[in-house]
Amino acid sequence: MNYNKKTVRDIDVKGKKVLLRCDFNVPMAKDGSGVITDDKRIRAALPTIQYLLDQGAAVIACSHMGKPKGEVKPELSLKPVAVRLGELLGKEIVMAADVVGPDAQAKAAALQPGQILLLENTRFEKGETKNDPALAKAMASMAEVYVSDAFGAVHRAHASTAGVADYLPAVSGFLIQKELDFIGGALANPKRPLVAILGGSKVSSKIGVINNLLEIADTIIIGGGMAYTFSAAQGGKVGNSLLEEDWKDYSLEMVQKAKDKGVKLLLPVDTVCADAFAPDAKSQVVLSGEIPDGWEGLDIGPETVKLYCDAVKDAGTVIWNGPMGVFEFPAFAKGTEAVAEALSKTSAITIIGGGDSAAAVQQLGYADKMTHISTGGGASLEFMEGKELPGVACLLDA
Ligand code: 3PG
Repeated sequence: MNYNKKTVRDIDVKGKKVLLRCDFNVPMAKDGSGVITDDKRIRAALPTIQYLLDQGAAVIACSHMGKPKGEVKPELSLKPVAVRLGELLGKEIVMAADVVGPDAQAKAAALQPGQILLLENTRFEKGETKNDPALAKAMASMAEVYVSDAFGAVHRAHASTAGVADYLPAVSGFLIQKELDFIGGALANPKRPLVAILGGSKVSSKIGVINNLLEIADTIIIGGGMAYTFSAAQGGKVGNSLLEEDWKDYSLEMVQKAKDKGVKLLLPVDTVCADAFAPDAKSQVVLSGEIPDGWEGLDIGPETVKLYCDAVKDAGTVIWNGPMGVFEFPAFAKGTEAVAEALSKTSAITIIGGGDSAAAVQQLGYADKMTHISTGGGASLEFMEGKELPGVACLLDA
């Protein structure tokens, strides 16, 4: 897939109406108060929005939020996003009551250069996730140019992330450009050695990434819950640890593939196991493959920490996707924290996949020490799997 795409800088937007797809799918407080608990994705969209306004465009922003499945769910309205966006830009945001309905159409028609209109949650429309051409056409009819900056949603072939590009000249914003440069650069032309640290709970959700990175990386480090499937496949005792029986054979294949390709594959040599899945569970350190019955592994052990931190010291590039243990429980966050700290000290280019790894790095206080933290969870995962991203493929080639 070609990641060399035209950007907002390659197109004249002066005096034009620009449909801007953002990923404003931000976490909200569970109490229904409309409080945004992390506005990182809104902040990440600001450079493109500001650029478009400075160029004299009228910006019609849109995004999904949550999974309302084609129904209007007031708790998934983008109104709180409009408020936060207005605060960050110091500007009034015109909020539409619908996506392509009469209110959106009227407000889009009246929009002047330098103004911003935010459409309602695109997934309030049934056609959004089906990539319905009628919806894409209706959205496109309000604008003259389409700019996508929704990196977090580029793995979705939806009406607002891909379909609209059939009806308007389509280019990327600065956020997508940055994500393509960092993640794409690390995959296509990494400063070596390239070390990939892969964690998280399931082999099944990371297998595509492991498989693809075995073609590219010099070293692959496995941590998190999925390490127990590797351990069990090699005859280890894993007690009550997370285990995907169906993926044992596949993990052995990956071990063999690493050998065949000459990729160093590091697996935990010890583990911190607990007598329950609880923050205050009793814990002990045991060798990998020797977890007693009734106990479960919740973090990598101290010898593994040394081994893994050593492996990133002289790296040229490190890609990290997935925590090393249950970092949400402080007693089992040490492995993840040690890796984050090691990354903060290396001179390597450090790229953190979105989702859990980004949350871990942020929660542990190392966010500003990383070269790039992706704003995409599923999107960065599919990118690292080597899959085509519909929201990028639809943009004009540079
Ligand atoms: C995300 O949060 O990863 C993106 O906004 C995509 O959301 P989705 O998984 O609901 O498509």
